[in-house]
Amino acid sequence: MYREQLCSLSPSSLLCIFHRPRVCFVIKTCVLISVVVLVSLFIRPLRNTLLYPVWPKPWKHVTTIDLLMMETMTKGPENVVDLPQCLTVVKQTVTEKDPRLDAIFIYDKVSETRLKSEDHKHFLPVMNGKEKRSFIKMFLVLAESLQGAGVKFFFESGSLLGSQRHHGLIPWDDDIDIAIHVNDWLTVRGALSCIEGYVLKVDPIMHWKFYGNTSRYPFIDIFFYTGNDEYIWAITDYTRRNLVAKKSEVFPLSYELFEGIEMPVPRFAELIARKFFEFDYCVSRSSNHKTGEPLNEITLLCSSLTYMYNMFHLDK
Ligand SMILES: *[C@@H]1O[C@H](CO)[C@@H](O)[C@H](O)[C@H]1NC(C)=O
Repeated sequence: MYREQLCSLSPSSLLCIFHRPRVCFVIKTCVLISVVVLVSLFIRPLRNTLLYPVWPKPWKHVTTIDLLMMETMTKGPENVVDLPQCLTVVKQTVTEKDPRLDAIFIYDKVSETRLKSEDHKHFLPVMNGKEKRSFIKMFLVLAESLQGAGVKFFFESGSLLGSQRHHGLIPWDDDIDIAIHVNDWLTVRGALSCIEGYVLKVDPIMHWKFYGNTSRYPFIDIFFYTGNDEYIWAITDYTRRNLVAKKSEVFPLSYELFEGIEMPVPRFAELIARKFFEFDYCVSRSSNHKTGEPLNEITLLCSSLTYMYNMFHLDK
């Protein structure tokens, strides 16, 4: 009775609006829909279908509760940027003549003049043989220094795909991504900061880079992960869509030839790579690593590129 009196005096007051039958119906429907959506976010198959276009592929296998746990429990170390005291520069022993570098894949003969389609120019090799040789040499320096310091690492992201589909670098790409446990960050900083001819760039968001002392290109990306009993996941927010994996599928690490050199990969490397990537579809680079400028990504069936490069594990 009181409400009706009030509403006849001021029909636009908030209380009255909420009690109009139509408004009330709309609100109830909205609340109901929100509850249904919220609940379905926690039902994995429903969530994956509902969010299909935006949901990162590696997350499809992880429950929403686990993802929330990863979001809230992830904290990087502090004091990372207090630059390391490099008292003695460490000489490194890998030379340009190292015989291990003779096995790397060189694509100098893949040239623009022979392309079967205009689109294929986005898939030309980015590095020539000489550049690639010195890049893989840099990677060997890093790998030996880490192994010498007792630090385990493995390929992730594009390099994991490369290790499986190309047994090396993705030919039209030019960086290497590795993952290391965050507990090793201090050891990594010590092991990689003082190497003659190279620079380690550390960063509090825990996306580090290793490159030559004369140019920041090409570089090796170092990402750190943390974990619980079941999963490992990236410390760096934007990498968490590429680096979330079941511990039992990653460890113990296995060893495979990468550019002809034995290197550590996750235990079930192909399985993990397939959870992250479509093996049959080749995607061109998303940015120019030399200049940082973004590039238009082009996607093609990899089988159309096999006249340029060897590819492994394709289905189509
Ligand atoms: C890079 O490292 C080499 C080898 O230690 C050294 O001779 C050279 O001076 C360094 N260059 C720069 C720009 O620091």
